[in-house]
Amino acid sequence: MGKLRSAAFIVTSGSVIFASHAVLSGNEKFYKHFIMPCFRLVDAETSHVLGVKAMSFGMVPLNNYIDPPSLTTTVWGKTFSNPIGTAAGFDKHAEAMVSLHNIGFSFVEVGSVTPLPQDGNSKPRVFRLTEDDAVINRYGFNSVGHTVVAERMKNYRAKPGKQNIVGINLGKNKTSDSAIQDYVLGVERLGDLADYLVVNVSSPNTPGLRDLQGKEKLQELIVNVLKARDSLPRKPPVLIKIAPDLTSKDKHDIADVILDPKSRIDGLIVSNTTITRPSHLKSTLKNEAGGLSGKPVRELSTDAIREMYKLTDGKLPIIGVGGVSSGRDAYDKIKAGASLVQLYTAMAFLGPPLITTIKKELEKILREDGFNNVSEAVGLDHR
Ligand SMILES: Cc1cc2nc3c(=O)[nH]c(=O)nc-3n(C[C@H](O)[C@H](O)[C@H](O)COP(=O)(O)O)c2cc1C
Repeated sequence: MGKLRSAAFIVTSGSVIFASHAVLSGNEKFYKHFIMPCFRLVDAETSHVLGVKAMSFGMVPLNNYIDPPSLTTTVWGKTFSNPIGTAAGFDKHAEAMVSLHNIGFSFVEVGSVTPLPQDGNSKPRVFRLTEDDAVINRYGFNSVGHTVVAERMKNYRAKPGKQNIVGINLGKNKTSDSAIQDYVLGVERLGDLADYLVVNVSSPNTPGLRDLQGKEKLQELIVNVLKARDSLPRKPPVLIKIAPDLTSKDKHDIADVILDPKSRIDGLIVSNTTITRPSHLKSTLKNEAGGLSGKPVRELSTDAIREMYKLTDGKLPIIGVGGVSSGRDAYDKIKAGASLVQLYTAMAFLGPPLITTIKKELEKILREDGFNNVSEAVGLDHR
């Protein structure tokens, strides 16, 4: 019995040592086949909250990968050590910026943040469509509000050492009387703390929000947001985040507005989640209400990037997002016209080691295609 116990102890300790090593070293297979399935033992929202909490305490795998010069790129006068960032929605409340940078993202988009704290929709409100590599969410802007995020961002900015790039994504309160006022407040309160600001008019879970993408409303909104931005000392770039479900006319209208000198913004994020449900979805959860993200939105979003790049003559930097889970997916978005790329859903399935894998793959593809730098491939589909 004693021998058995010792053997069990040795085996268990061995496994723990192996596991700890694999976790710490960011072993990709170990994350894919062991760590991430453990997270899936709990519901999608709990595992998200646990993941962000772990990151807020700095619990992330070691990452020794040094971004190669071919991935370094400059957008809005800011140098990004690689073009891959965390999409909005993962770090809604500005808790995990340091860890997200440590696992290899060159930039993090905090939010969406609403002026006042609000709970969002009732639970359950996030669903994993595992068979489809997808998620449906109807969070409805659960947010700690401007004041808390501003405080966290101030603490983050006050930390000594290298400041990484953090954008802030702005939303509106569900019961607010004025969407414009909510976004303007976001600019005033958070603008000086952000490397860029995003006006999110494309989340499908706040009634009426996506109507702000219509021509007149969008122009009025942008004019007011830019006025507020221009009165800030640091004047961060302002981006608009759009849906993948827009008609061709919607996209033409948006291009007209954002190229108009009165309402000329600094960039676009393409795209948010889709309210469509492609016929090939297999999961029984496919008819849950909300925005669909991950693999099924990949081509929709890449096509929208290609169209918006064309309509804007490549004059406005685009952040491409939707279904990216490999270096090839990131490259496709870059060729369609994205200067930078973001992801969320694939990381929820594959864990932090995915970021290094994507960067390695992208570096290899660029080399094979004869590019010295990722910026040379931006908009390649249009040449
Ligand atoms: C659970 C969840 C929450 C999200 N919350 C936000 C949000 O608050 N604001 C926003 O602009 N986008 C939000 N998004 C959309 C993502 O930023 C991204 O545009 C979309 O998921 C497509 O990228 P992906 O396929 O890599 O996830 C959310 C996505 C998910 C999956």
